[in-house]
Amino acid sequence: MAFYITTSISYVNGRPHLGHAYEAIASDIVARHHRQRGEDVFFLTGTDEHGEPVADSARANGMEPRAWADLNAAKFQAMLPTLSVEPDFFIRTTDPEHARRVQAVLQTVHDNGYVYKGTYAGWYCPRCADFKVENEILEGNRCPIHEIPLTREHEENYFFALSAFQERLETFFSEHPGFIAPARARNEAEAFLAGGLQDVSLSRAKLNWGITVPWDPGHVFYVWFDALLNYYTAPGFARPGVDLTAALWPADVHMIGKDILKFHTIFWPALLMAAGLEPPRGVYVHGHLAAADGRRMSKSFGNGIDPAEAVDRFGSPDPLRFYLMRDVRYGTDGPVSLDALTARYESELANDLGNLASRTLAMIVRYRDGQVPPAPLDPELVDAFTGLPDTVAAAIDAIDLSGGLEAIWQRVRRLNRYVEERRPWELAREPTATGQLDSVLASLHEGVRALAVLLAPYIPTSAHTLLNALGRPESGYGAAAFGAGTDGPPVRVATIAPLFPKAPAA
Ligand code: MSP
Repeated sequence: MAFYITTSISYVNGRPHLGHAYEAIASDIVARHHRQRGEDVFFLTGTDEHGEPVADSARANGMEPRAWADLNAAKFQAMLPTLSVEPDFFIRTTDPEHARRVQAVLQTVHDNGYVYKGTYAGWYCPRCADFKVENEILEGNRCPIHEIPLTREHEENYFFALSAFQERLETFFSEHPGFIAPARARNEAEAFLAGGLQDVSLSRAKLNWGITVPWDPGHVFYVWFDALLNYYTAPGFARPGVDLTAALWPADVHMIGKDILKFHTIFWPALLMAAGLEPPRGVYVHGHLAAADGRRMSKSFGNGIDPAEAVDRFGSPDPLRFYLMRDVRYGTDGPVSLDALTARYESELANDLGNLASRTLAMIVRYRDGQVPPAPLDPELVDAFTGLPDTVAAAIDAIDLSGGLEAIWQRVRRLNRYVEERRPWELAREPTATGQLDSVLASLHEGVRALAVLLAPYIPTSAHTLLNALGRPESGYGAAAFGAGTDGPPVRVATIAPLFPKAPAA
């Protein structure tokens, strides 16, 4: 079964920041989980390189748009492996293959009668690349997102007949209640639709940094249509000589932030309908992270978290990946800071999980010479783990990434309590308790193993180190059940350096 997931594509008007890292990490977690389930995953990410946001920032930096885009796109691409984010393809909208396909789809939209020429007069935000309608505008004609003054635009361009899709979108929304999640985002999209749709600009005559309109080369496509189409064009050319479009379309889920909801939940399905294509199956709208002082994160404010710094500090992306899914409930807004990351690292990764792992491995080495005893599993733990893989899978299917992690963490805590209750070091001193100690050690080994399998999408490097040390490297979802690791020949464990060593002081 194919599973096609995308991030939004980032504007290359600067270097990547935590918001970009956040979306990439969350999408990577979902992708890895589905790979564990044996699905044919295609995970797409990339960069959005045309339009004013990039042209303006290039000019401000004294560079040509293309050179500026190349420079920054390389930074986005380079960030991904440092975060253990492993996409199946990285699309750049300046790719000629993308441009060719955008022209073909929009030509179809034109030929189907949904494009007309008109004059746009209204307010425009060059940072959002968004034409704002009156009720979206802040006092003083400012952008509601960037708070910068909007420009007054008056130009002749092509329009997309969005209003023709009012009823079709209403029907689509009601027939596909799962199309937009979480509920808050669905309500927002429904409210926008209920407000009545207006036609939108499809092209710009003033700008030349974009994809040429095939029926009128004096125009380029408005950047949002070029950008949204990346999800559809990429499968066509991601693998040379193979067209994956039929296998992958419609996409299963687009992961996006709340500021670009209108484009993905309204414009995008309407555009696809206009081209005779199927809308995606789902759009998941995550929240925005802010600095602990409530302000926007910014290098110049010196607040928030810089992803590269957070990875360097811990020598691995796992702490950042974990923290981002744990501290702010995924799907809501929240504050982040390096202090809060360090606190979570110490209390949960180092203490809860790291100690559990080292104690389990060390006790098997000390009391059983590294050999995992082939003993029956403790029914109490069998109970505590029953249904866990299904619970986690259901949470991730609902993109409740924090909920999935919490379900896992309850068992991490349960195993720590188990060690305290059973006191294996006392059992080891009693000659009559050999069988009991065998069962406690086998149960702990199995519990830690099952948890490491479930944690692998969240903290891939640490989870795989742990699975190897446990002597059972299998990480497919079948291995996530408590008890699944007891089949097969007996295994030996290895002791390892602490998975989460003490972090250097800030
Ligand atoms: N290029 C458009 C998207 C086109 S998709 C067809 C764009 N790019 S962006 O670089 O400005 O934003 C990329 C993503 O990062 C968006 O989903 C946005 O919501 C997300 N984030 C930007 N700042 C963020 C935070 N502070 N926190 C979480 N996500 C953030 O929009």
